[in-house]
Amino acid sequence: MAIDWFPGSWKRFPALQQPEYPDAAALESVLAELSLLPPLVTSWEVAALKEQLAQASAGKCFVLQGGDCAERFADCTSQRIANQIKILIQMSLVLVQGSGKPVVRLGRFAGQYAKPRSADFEEVDGRTLPSYRGDLINRPETTLEARTPNPQLLLRGYERAALTLNFIRALVKGGFADLHHPEYWDLDWTRHSPQAAEYHRLLLSITESLKFMENILGQPAGGSDRIDFYTSHEALHLGYEQAQTRRVPHRPGWFNLSTHFPWVGIRTASPEGAHVEYLRGIANPVGVKVGTATAPEQVLRIIDALDPANQPGRVTLIHRFGVERIAEGLPPLVEAVRREGRTVLWMCDPMHGNTRSTSAGLKTRSFEEIESELNQAFDIHAACGSILGGVHIELTGENVTECTGGARGLEDHDLHEAYETEVDPRLNYEQALELALLVAHRMNKLGA
Ligand code: PEP
Ligand code: CO
Repeated sequence: MAIDWFPGSWKRFPALQQPEYPDAAALESVLAELSLLPPLVTSWEVAALKEQLAQASAGKCFVLQGGDCAERFADCTSQRIANQIKILIQMSLVLVQGSGKPVVRLGRFAGQYAKPRSADFEEVDGRTLPSYRGDLINRPETTLEARTPNPQLLLRGYERAALTLNFIRALVKGGFADLHHPEYWDLDWTRHSPQAAEYHRLLLSITESLKFMENILGQPAGGSDRIDFYTSHEALHLGYEQAQTRRVPHRPGWFNLSTHFPWVGIRTASPEGAHVEYLRGIANPVGVKVGTATAPEQVLRIIDALDPANQPGRVTLIHRFGVERIAEGLPPLVEAVRREGRTVLWMCDPMHGNTRSTSAGLKTRSFEEIESELNQAFDIHAACGSILGGVHIELTGENVTECTGGARGLEDHDLHEAYETEVDPRLNYEQALELALLVAHRMNKLGA
């Protein structure tokens, strides 16, 4: 157990990106209420994920982490949730075929409601308003009332996370993710997608190999009727995370039971900061974003704090450099980790280093840059003798126009057609599937 740690020990360290609530007593009473609500996930699921991440760090499986940049309360609807699950299932099947390995599905959902911001305030029509920090904290409308952090939203967020997860669990249990019924998770417009033919070919080959296996075994293939999902979110609001930090019978340590996999973002990953202090003491597998501003020596200090026992599966380093900087930035980090004999899971987030604004002021990312950063990540890890064990993607199962490029060649001037995100631009359904096909081809080529 971590020395000198308790669920609130983070308060002794500088905590960045925390909202300022006007009524401290109201916040405390909400946190007290939250800490009595039942957990969303179980410690044995958390332990199972850690084991699978350990496998991924050894190259025995591959992790697909994906979902919205910021989940919205208004998107907690059956159709949105089902579409998100469908695209993740489709991508993961493509990756299974390409890599020849099991794929671990880790959603950015059921709690991805709090966002870090580069500025605490923004100017709107000559007025200064607190920035929107995600539905867990405040609302995006441009009034002072909407932007004032409201602790009741922590409860609303927890409830929606529970509703989301409840529906996902029911879908999975009810056979929605059964490999014998791929027709359940065909999205309506798969048929019109430029990738449709390749995807359907692939599906056919999966169903045929399944039938072949079952004929040989004379019984249903083990596990083929069940696809598991794990949840993840950025552990940003430390009061919220602390309220979900529990002990369980028969298993040592403290668990964050609001999610299987909490991660810290690039802005809060300082080894001296409150977020790393909080993650240090929980038993979950944890992620840390790293990028151009992360010195190799800093990565080692973070790993020392989070994983003194060097347990495989405990730490995932999610690198997000940007297409121009990964070639220079990544090798020194890989080298430092290797030199110290550390075991980490390397995951590439090709989204967050490639954000730009259009002349119309929309935040976007180019599919080709995302693809190029991912390709470079595969090359660099292959050259350094390390393993790229997963990808971290912002995507949606909807037909949005937020990122440029891809098979349909979306351009800046097309983006206004279905631009929905409040925060970062996501790959739409077709772009996400196209990226999965590219990664699958890539892994085939590597013979991974
Ligand atoms: C994110 O994943 O949405 C995010 C804010 O990433 P980063 O911390 O890498 O900027
Ligand atoms: Co984002």
